[in-house]
Amino acid sequence: MALEDNSGGSNYATMRFKPESEHGANNGLKIARDRLEKVKQEFPWISYGDLWTLAGVCAVQEAQGPKVPWRPGRIDGYDHHCTPDGRLPDGSKAQDHLRDIFYRMGFNDQEIVALSGAHAMGRCHTDRSGFDGPWTFSPTTFTNDYFKLLFDEKWSWRKWNGPAQFTDSKTKSLMMLPSDMSLTKDKEFKKHAKAYANDADLFFKEYVVSLPHSSPSSKR
Ligand code: HEM
Repeated sequence: MALEDNSGGSNYATMRFKPESEHGANNGLKIARDRLEKVKQEFPWISYGDLWTLAGVCAVQEAQGPKVPWRPGRIDGYDHHCTPDGRLPDGSKAQDHLRDIFYRMGFNDQEIVALSGAHAMGRCHTDRSGFDGPWTFSPTTFTNDYFKLLFDEKWSWRKWNGPAQFTDSKTKSLMMLPSDMSLTKDKEFKKHAKAYANDADLFFKEYVVSLPHSSPSSKR
């Protein structure tokens, strides 16, 4: 969301519409939207914004992550509510870019680091972002492994024909984006990333309060 005008975020669920559905950073999310369309058909009274966010908090919980408080109230909007491209973070960039993107939405350094811990789950796909591979060995489980691996493994540039990304020297099966690595390089980011690597409970707790869950349309 933009703090100035309260636009963006899950309210209105504008990612259903062009041009937002075609923003590069949304590549692959049609797969998730289509899955949830089946639930929407069965329960047509729920708004898309409520359905998508509820699916998100359920997924984190089912993956053994924290229970994220959730409440309904988002409404469906129209294509003219679509947000402009360029508001989402770019994995090929580092701390200055992350701050530009997240500060605009009202997040602070600690929240940027906590939210990045979601990369414990899932993976990158060459046909979506161009990057390749998972961040952790257990990509269907919500853990603090992302932070542990950032510090415990030795990371080097992957030698390949794709966009610049890091690979772990030991198994060469994991990946980190340049944006992920910046969490270990920037002094302020590093402080939080280290704390989460050392304390999974702290990560869970701060992840939950960093999410923009407190009201349907805005973070605060
Ligand atoms: C900090 C800035 C961030 C950057 C630069 C970034 C970048 C990316 C990229 C490039 C991918 C790979 C997409 C693909 O190829 O399929 C990805 C996937 C993912 N991101 Fe982020 N992301 C960021 C923050 C976040 C946040 C805040 C969350 C959630 C709280 C998140 C959750 C995920 C998840 C779960 C996936 C895996 C998707 C899948 O398995 O298909 N990311 N991210």
